[in-house]
Amino acid sequence: MTAISIMGLGKLGAPLAACFAARGFHVHAVDIDPQKVDAVNRGVAPISEPGLAELIRESDGRLKASQDPEAAVRDSDATFIVVSTPSEQTGGFSLRYVMPVAEAIGRAMRVKREYHLVVLTSTVMPGSTGTEVKNTLERVSGKRCGDDFGLCYSPEFIALGSVIRDFYNPDFLLIGESDSHAGEMLAEIYRRVCKNSAQVARMNFINAEITKLAVNTFVTTKISFANMLARICEKLPEADVNVVTSALGLDSRIGPKYLKGAVSYGGPCFPRDNRALAAVAARAGATSDLAEATDRFNRVQIKLLAELIRQYGSATETIGVLGLTYKPDTDVVEEAFGLLLAQELSAMGVPVIAYDPSADLVRALGSHKAIRAARSAPECINESSVVVLATPWPEFRDIATEQWGRHSAPRVVIDCWRALSHLDGVEGVRYVRLGFGGETERQETASSGSH
Ligand SMILES: NC(=O)c1ccc[n+]([C@@H]2O[C@H](COP(=O)([O-])OP(=O)(O)OC[C@H]3O[C@@H](n4cnc5c(N)ncnc54)[C@H](O)[C@@H]3O)[C@@H](O)[C@H]2O)c1
Repeated sequence: MTAISIMGLGKLGAPLAACFAARGFHVHAVDIDPQKVDAVNRGVAPISEPGLAELIRESDGRLKASQDPEAAVRDSDATFIVVSTPSEQTGGFSLRYVMPVAEAIGRAMRVKREYHLVVLTSTVMPGSTGTEVKNTLERVSGKRCGDDFGLCYSPEFIALGSVIRDFYNPDFLLIGESDSHAGEMLAEIYRRVCKNSAQVARMNFINAEITKLAVNTFVTTKISFANMLARICEKLPEADVNVVTSALGLDSRIGPKYLKGAVSYGGPCFPRDNRALAAVAARAGATSDLAEATDRFNRVQIKLLAELIRQYGSATETIGVLGLTYKPDTDVVEEAFGLLLAQELSAMGVPVIAYDPSADLVRALGSHKAIRAARSAPECINESSVVVLATPWPEFRDIATEQWGRHSAPRVVIDCWRALSHLDGVEGVRYVRLGFGGETERQETASSGSH
C-alpha cells in the first residue's frame, strides 16, 4: 500500500494524517513545531478536533511524526503539503510556508530514484501551483514534473468540528493534475481512504484553483442571501425566515444547505476565500461585484445586529454573548460572529460579558479587556439583562429553563439561531427570535421604552 507523508500537523493536516493512518496507510507526518510532533508520537492529538484523539490512538503504530521533511519524503510515495497560507493585505494568499516545504521535498526527490507524487492541499491563489510551486520542485530536484514526479492541487472542503467525517465523506473530490498518471494515483489514494464513492473532478491546476475559491464564494453568497431574507423578515409582521428558506430549499436548483438565515459567516476559510476570488479578479482585470457585495454585506451584519441588540437594553445594562467561536465544536474564533459582536458592543460602550464552551476566552478577548469572560453559561446569563445566542452550541439548549428567567424584570434572550424556542413564554424571559417579523413590534417597544 502507498505510504503517505504529510507536511503540517495543523487543524487540517493532523486530522488528515490520522485518517490516512486509520485507513491502513503508513504515515510520516512533519511539523516545525516540536510540541505537535511530540504529541503525535505520544499518541496524543496535537490540535483540538472531535474524534482526533481516538483516531490517533487507533492508528496502531502506522502514524509517526518528525521534524525531518526529507526523511518523510524518502519514507513515502506521496507527500501532502498542508501548511498554512496566510492571507495578505491584498486578499491573496502567501506561499511563505509552502515554499520551504517545496524546497525540502525537491531536495529529497533529487536523491530519490522512485517516482514521487506531491499533493498541494493548502489553499493557494490561482496560478501558484503551476508556477512557483512546480518551478521550485523542478529546480531543486533537477527532475521534470509530469515525467519524474507528479504534482496535484487538491484542496479540502471540510468544516472544523467535522473534519474527519467530511474528509471520509466528501461531496466531491477536486484534483488539479500535472498529468493523468499523477491524477489517477491521487484518485486511487482517495478511493482507498474515503468511505463514500464521491465523484472526482479532475482538471488542470488553474481550473482547480479557481474551483476551490468559487465553491466557498458561492456558499458565502448563499449564506448571505439567507441572512438578507432574515433581516427583511424581521421588519415584516408575521414573516418568518424559517418558513421562507425551508420552502426555498425545496427547489432543486437551490437546495436546503446553508440557508439558515442567521448571522455573519466567519472562520478560517469562508471570508478569506471570498476575498481571494475578488483579488484574483482584480489582478486579472475582471470584475467580481458579487463576491465583493457578499463580503461587504457580511461585515455590515455585525454592526447592524449590534445596533439592533443594543436597543433591547439601557446603556448601562450588561449584554451577555453566548458563543465566541465561528461555529460549534471548534475552538477557532477567527472572524467569528460572536467575538466580533462582543467587540462591537463593547466599542459602543455597552458592558459585555461573554462565554464560550471551547474558546480560550482570555486569548479570544485579546485587547478588549472591557469584555468580561464568564466561567460558565449560567454565570454569563445571570450577569446580563440581555443575552444573545451568537453560536448555537448544543449545550446552550440544555441549560435548565429556570436559569434563564429573572424576577426583577424579564431577561431579554435574543436568539440569532432560533435554537431556544422552548424559552418562548417562560416566566421572567422575554424571548426574541431573529428572522421573525412578529418581534418587530416588541423591538419598537423595547427601543422606545429603554431611553
Ligand atoms: N482549517 C480549515 O478549516 C481548512 C479548510 C480547508 C483548507 N484549509 C487550508 O489548509 C491549509 C492549512 O490550514 P490549517 O488550518 O491546517 O493551518 P494551521 O495553521 O492550523 O496549521 C499549519 C501547520 O503547518 C505547520 N508548518 C508551518 N511551516 C511548516 C514547515 N515548513 N514544515 C512543516 N510544517 C510546517 C505549522 O507549524 C502548523 O502546525 C491552509 O492553506 C488552509 O487555507 C484549511
